[in-house]
Amino acid sequence: MQRIIAVTLAFSLLSAVLFSQPVPKMEKPALIPFPAKWEPIPGECRLSDGPRILQIQDTAIANPEGYRLQIRPEEIRMYFKEKAGAFYAQQTLQQLTSPDGVLPCLDIEDAPRFAYRGMHLDVCRHFFPVDFIKKYIDLLAMHKMNYFHWHLTEDQGWRIEIKKYPRLQEVAAWRKETLVGHYSDQPHQFDGQRYGGYYTQEEIRDVVEYARERFVTIIPEIEMPGHSQALLAAYPELSCHGQPLEVATKWGVFEDVLCPTEETFEFLENVLLEVIDLFPGPYIHIGGDECPKTQWKESAFCQELIKKEGLKDEDELQSYFIRRIDRFLSEHGRKLIGWDEILEGGLSENATVMSWRGVQGGIEAAQAGHDVIMTPTSHCYFDYYQSQSPDEPLAIGGYLPLEKVYNYEPVPEELSPEEARHILGAQGNLWTEYIPDTRQVEYMAFPRALALAELLWSPLSAKDFSDFQDRLARYLPRLDINYADHLFDIRYELDGADLRLSNRLDMPMWYQFDDEKPVLYEGPVPILSDTHLQAWRADATGEPSGRLLRLDFHTHAAFGKKIQWQEPPHPNYQLGGAAALSNGLLGNPTRYGDGEWLGWWGKDVVLTTDLVEAHPIRSAQLRFFQSQGQWIYLPREVELFYSDDGTDYQSLGQIAVEQTKERVQTVVLTFPEKEARYWKLHVTRFGKIPPGMQGAGNEAWVFLDEWILQQ
Ligand code: ACM
Repeated sequence: MQRIIAVTLAFSLLSAVLFSQPVPKMEKPALIPFPAKWEPIPGECRLSDGPRILQIQDTAIANPEGYRLQIRPEEIRMYFKEKAGAFYAQQTLQQLTSPDGVLPCLDIEDAPRFAYRGMHLDVCRHFFPVDFIKKYIDLLAMHKMNYFHWHLTEDQGWRIEIKKYPRLQEVAAWRKETLVGHYSDQPHQFDGQRYGGYYTQEEIRDVVEYARERFVTIIPEIEMPGHSQALLAAYPELSCHGQPLEVATKWGVFEDVLCPTEETFEFLENVLLEVIDLFPGPYIHIGGDECPKTQWKESAFCQELIKKEGLKDEDELQSYFIRRIDRFLSEHGRKLIGWDEILEGGLSENATVMSWRGVQGGIEAAQAGHDVIMTPTSHCYFDYYQSQSPDEPLAIGGYLPLEKVYNYEPVPEELSPEEARHILGAQGNLWTEYIPDTRQVEYMAFPRALALAELLWSPLSAKDFSDFQDRLARYLPRLDINYADHLFDIRYELDGADLRLSNRLDMPMWYQFDDEKPVLYEGPVPILSDTHLQAWRADATGEPSGRLLRLDFHTHAAFGKKIQWQEPPHPNYQLGGAAALSNGLLGNPTRYGDGEWLGWWGKDVVLTTDLVEAHPIRSAQLRFFQSQGQWIYLPREVELFYSDDGTDYQSLGQIAVEQTKERVQTVVLTFPEKEARYWKLHVTRFGKIPPGMQGAGNEAWVFLDEWILQQ
């Protein structure tokens, strides 16, 4: 570090003398992921000058993926110990090279923070051609990711040729039609189009070799015992009831699962033998997630097996299932990976766990001495929405913006340094229920996969989202893919009732209230009344450029005022903070994962606001989101209080919330006009979810947005 400062200082002093004008700071190269150490050197290297390129084996480099680079005008030196290091040095050189073949002079010393840097792709809900799979692998390798988790079997389609079982190709690879729109749209509608396909073994061998050349290991996933309806459509004798089934045409978790008979194990072992032969990597993923136990409970065979094996219940039966497969894979020199449900009923000896339902599964597994790959929905599900723009393509739900991915830390604080060694790394998951084509795969995966690539490769101490965004803004246009460009959108922020706009490109911005004349943005704009505001960036010719920002403001007495909560919302659903409750913007009517809705779990919601001076109020309004499939219920009751001193509160009355089926329910309390400065709200939660419903017996969530107070 000392040398960087010395060089830069000497350089700037000299320039100041010579030119007596500011010297541009040497721009950090737009590398993603950014190397562990770099040191700029004045000068540049032009490929057209024919620099010497030296590849040097350096046994002193500790990490097999590590490398060093020295770039000088006449010479580029690449130091590495293993071929992977040489490959990553090459990726860095490619990113450093400008379109006209110029590289900045610098020294780099680099190695990854985590050994597992992965991306997943579901090719079952929608099927993508081999050429695209190769492009996806290229994109991973370019950003120094080294595992591709290929999700090959599902309820809606079986996508890997298994020569011993031709009905997997003839039947399980095809569904008669596909759900149109979102699963929560009622009634369900279908497109009537036969859909499917599979990869031949020859294609798979070709892809595996392609990945190997790029230092990407492929982990095939063969789901069991749940998510197997396509397999059962082809071989119904492997279910507990033996009844005919169809390949699933809609999304979800299905009751029809594999029955743990000897016939099933023989079938799966034969399938796995072919899979092992195709994929030389150390890991085979066997799913293990979301396996309903209803049919096992009803099956005399399963109940008998539970007794015979001395098992406690169906969870232990699943554990018995996974253990047998684990033993089989171990005998064949492979390691089993499963989703965190494989912890239930006892984890088998050699299993590696992918923690997806949060991080608790990963913590437990690491504490028990098992290896773990982190993929929590909260930070790693790239099928979630990435922007609050109403123009986003339909997605499964949730909200996972780039910044949240970037700030993910895979090692939970709960772990000791010894336990933390079991966290191999993390992975981004791309489930494709709502991703019909390759352009949309690119859109959902990028740039979030780049944030993940950096957090997994670069040192934790160098983490800096603002710096990442600066590099990303320069790097993204070089990627020839359909990446999401929200990074360049107009951003907004409310300071009280003042609206501030900004954009990362520092382009001029225009805004317009309702049908009024457009105005050039020159500083904070006060929001004085209910209004529809549009804002856009203008390019050099003054033409609108990029995505339009649209905001509908509803002003009221508490608009822009500070709100405090007694208990904070759940960390996963408090993105907009308390300000979201008084910013005049209403949460999206179809999705609760945006920055406006706040979600509390298992707690009553108590809020207070200070109107700064006493204000006459006649009504209070609150909006609640409801989605019972996602455990989100309307509350039981809302009570409003007022106070003159912010300490002693008087009730103004309460209202029982009508339990309608509306997705968004507005609750209104009206009362004789009351003048007061301080106001308080108590929302009584629904409580436990009733029997027969999704999540029965668990606490329900309550989601609310704007707290409106009006005269
Ligand atoms: C999963 O998302 N069901 C692993």
